[in-house]
Amino acid sequence: MMDLFTQIVQLLVDTFVMIVGLGVIWVIVIFFVDITQTEHAIRRNFPVVGRFRYAFEHMGEFFRQYFFSMDREEMPFNRAERSWAYRAAKGIDTTVAFGSTKDLRPVGTVIFVNCPYPTLDEDGSPTSPVTIGPGCPNPYTTDRLFHISGMSFGAISRPAVLALSKGARKAGCWVNTGEGGLSPFHLEGGADIVFQLGTAKYGVRNDDGTLNEERLAAIAAHEQVRMFEIKLSQGAKPGKGGILPGVKVTSQIAEIRGIPQGKDSISPNRHPEISNADELLDFIDRIRTITGKPVGFKTVIGSIVWLEEILGKIGERGPDSAPDFITIDSGDGGTGAAPMSLIDNVGLPVRESLPLLVDSLIRHGLRGRIKVIASGKLINPDRAAAALCTGADFVISARGFMFALGCIQSLQCNQNTCPTGIATHKKSLQRGLVLEDKAERVRRYQQTMENEIGVIAHSCGVTEPRQLKRKHCRIVQNNGRSVLVSELYPEPEQQEVN
Ligand SMILES: Cc1cc2nc3c(=O)[nH]c(=O)nc-3n(C[C@H](O)[C@H](O)[C@H](O)COP(=O)(O)O)c2cc1C
Ligand code: SF4
Repeated sequence: MMDLFTQIVQLLVDTFVMIVGLGVIWVIVIFFVDITQTEHAIRRNFPVVGRFRYAFEHMGEFFRQYFFSMDREEMPFNRAERSWAYRAAKGIDTTVAFGSTKDLRPVGTVIFVNCPYPTLDEDGSPTSPVTIGPGCPNPYTTDRLFHISGMSFGAISRPAVLALSKGARKAGCWVNTGEGGLSPFHLEGGADIVFQLGTAKYGVRNDDGTLNEERLAAIAAHEQVRMFEIKLSQGAKPGKGGILPGVKVTSQIAEIRGIPQGKDSISPNRHPEISNADELLDFIDRIRTITGKPVGFKTVIGSIVWLEEILGKIGERGPDSAPDFITIDSGDGGTGAAPMSLIDNVGLPVRESLPLLVDSLIRHGLRGRIKVIASGKLINPDRAAAALCTGADFVISARGFMFALGCIQSLQCNQNTCPTGIATHKKSLQRGLVLEDKAERVRRYQQTMENEIGVIAHSCGVTEPRQLKRKHCRIVQNNGRSVLVSELYPEPEQQEVN
């Protein structure tokens, strides 16, 4: 009897040891599988434990229904919005089943006006090309609608810049350098580049922070650099220059920007040479003369009065003096780092400022001359299509493309601890971001965005997205009823330009 009992105990102990042993072997195997695979940044950086994220994410779908936030509740981007971007980037089917989880009642909800006779796919036409700065020695023509908004090398990592620029070349869209200057990685990717001239003039500055014209001319000499964008402000921090914490100012970033290594890199809150409409137009003229390429400016709008003044001055100076484009950023735009009061409460959201700008341009007869680029949470096809309806010529995004790179919205871009390798200069974390895979995701995301904007256009009965107009879009009001954008913002009479 005792023998039998001992044998059973021994069997149980052996089984337990075998299970634990198999478990350890499994963990070791999974560890090596995770650390060597190239598709998932989180698993590559955090082997084995990173897998729990996928399990929790999957289970969260079920738990959240009962206990936690719903699909449409998180900020700045809810799970439904992010999931769409992830799926588009991964090339996974973006259709959903059973019905919409979107509540169509909140004020501001966009509803497109479907046509009873939608455009047949075979009758659809490719998106028509648009030329920016036709009067420049080197105008820029593109038929892409959706492009990559400015994120500096510094705010984001070397592999992130490379993946964006390689992905942009595959997709045929442009990538904006952000205010951190032109890095070799922007060029290496091979995409069209928009060089951003921030208030500190990183990459084209003298030691005292003024513009170095030779350096600017050298940047313009790169054929890939197609346009120049003067940054007046960005939506997340109007009235505040760029902030790159010292921990992210590596020797390479310091060299590209022309600043000391390891010290906080803080740009002035405006260009010292630009304090009024005349000085802005003079500066645009100066940059265009040096570079020979289209020049525009980026801003977030709080009031339209100062823009009206600029457009009035252009009326006096002639249309050649105009910026070739205006990039209008939303008050709720993203950033690598900014004070919360500015992120939260300064500058109009793009849905309100875009029609103000477009109408001003129409009133001054400059709608054709100055192209309009819109940004701010336009990471899904519906929002981008609504911006096109309102009058944008192009839509750009920063955070949409970060999601394509694998960003999990952990909101620590300012700390050099980004778990996905996008916003950190730690090599150990950058390992997770595998270049070719992520470049391909950038391409897929860009193309799926354009395809689905096309699907909305066809549903509205037009042949391509550039034909979307205000009459194709309705916005839900506080009485619960939706109103056509063409009624909310009737297009003004166009003035003749002298
Ligand atoms: C990490 C990060 C870095 C950024 N860096 C810049 C920059 O250098 N210059 C700039 O004009 N905007 C910068 N932005 C703002 C974006 O270009 C864009 O205007 C804003 O995020 C709104 O677009 P989104 O909602 O698609 O992100 C940055 C945004 C992020 C998230
Ligand atoms: S994962 Fe987090 S830290 Fe990295 S880019 Fe996204 S939000 Fe920023």
